[in-house]
Amino acid sequence: MPTFRAPRGTRDLLPADHVVFDRLLRTAADLATRYGYHPIETPLFEQTAVFERGIGEVTDVVEKELFRLAPRTEESESWTLRPEPTAGIVRAYVQHGMQTLPQPVKLTMTGPMFRYDRPQAGRYRQFWQFDVEAIGDPGPAVDAEIIELGHRFYAEVGVDGVEVLVNSIGDAACRPAYIAELVRYYRRHAASLPPTELDRLERNALRLLDSKDPAMADLNAAAPRITDHLCDACAAHFESMKAHLAALGVPYRVAPGLVRGLDYYTRTAFEFYVAGREGQQQALGGGGRYDGLVALLGGKPTPGIGFGLGLDRVMLVLAEQGGGAVGAPEGPLAVVVGADAEDTVARLRVATELRAAGLRVRAELGRRKLGRQLEAAGRDGAHFAVILGDELEGGQVQVRDLLAGTQRTVAVGDLARELARAEASHRHG
Ligand code: HAM
Repeated sequence: MPTFRAPRGTRDLLPADHVVFDRLLRTAADLATRYGYHPIETPLFEQTAVFERGIGEVTDVVEKELFRLAPRTEESESWTLRPEPTAGIVRAYVQHGMQTLPQPVKLTMTGPMFRYDRPQAGRYRQFWQFDVEAIGDPGPAVDAEIIELGHRFYAEVGVDGVEVLVNSIGDAACRPAYIAELVRYYRRHAASLPPTELDRLERNALRLLDSKDPAMADLNAAAPRITDHLCDACAAHFESMKAHLAALGVPYRVAPGLVRGLDYYTRTAFEFYVAGREGQQQALGGGGRYDGLVALLGGKPTPGIGFGLGLDRVMLVLAEQGGGAVGAPEGPLAVVVGADAEDTVARLRVATELRAAGLRVRAELGRRKLGRQLEAAGRDGAHFAVILGDELEGGQVQVRDLLAGTQRTVAVGDLARELARAEASHRHG
């Protein structure tokens, strides 16, 4: 047993995992750019109130899962590691006066989030999200555009069979009447409610609908549906959003019980699943509209919508579907080896020049025999070995093509150009 291990609910991403992870990051960045989103970075921690107010006091995330940092002095402020990016991004939008920019402001961030949840498969205490936010557009066209973007991400990284679940959870005009009906419904069944849900009933009845307690499943399936209680404006928004989705060819299913776990949502709510795996912790991603959040965090009323896609879960699904759970990290283009085992200075100097020219090069820094150095270069997956010998005094080295088994003499001054050319023709040929 090692003395120290990564904290429970966290994972080390080893180089082989990183091959897949890098592909996800590249696809996320590339898609965000294609769709007009600009990168933003916010701190990993914020004032706790940003999350309490933004996400809602009576939510699992705030009640049970916040990673609060211990105050360092009596009077210091309360800080919390971010459980999600939206509240922090909206805080930045307000703080930096982005309301004066042309709207919508389209922002993207990919990074780690922290929730002090009970760790289990696909549920970590530190996990990664690819997030986009379009702030300042009331929709509904942008709602569909964002859902299509999320759907495309899964397709481009190679996850098969992703299904989009959509719902509308109304707004301040129609939700109160619906919640009143929901409260009446659950009160009638109070005897079968688990104590925590009974406690939440009077404070935030909507949260009962996304309860993780199996005892709630049947009750929730039979609960009144928000889509039967939408006001005309919300109903029209929902219909138009769905029409846009259909026109874009995004397959979706309406899920009347989908209310999302965070309080800031209004109208459009959506989640991505691998079809047939709609369990609570299996959502590959989710998001929705939050028309009240900017005002809640101190800005002037501004609509917004976004999503967060869980990259850890995408990696798990890719592994299950055989989409390349592991990969071999790329080896160097060349390894610089030498007949004089002791002369690490010469090997390092040549390697440094090649790296300065932009090439991936390893210098053999061990003092083993040339044969062993060449074997190690082969194991590294290097294409070339640059062999330093007596000709170095005359400004020449041997370049061995380890894949083709050929060898030739090259002037040190031409080495970087020759290797770059050989690599380019290898890649394209
Ligand atoms: P969320 O549904 O709480 O939404 O999280 C989004 C995604 O993050 C989930 O669907 C899941 O894939 C992943 N995720 C959440 N918790 C964990 C965990 N403990 N371990 C691994 N993966 C996890 C949000 O966070 C919203 N900010 C999304 C959003 C953006 N809404 C509007 N804009």
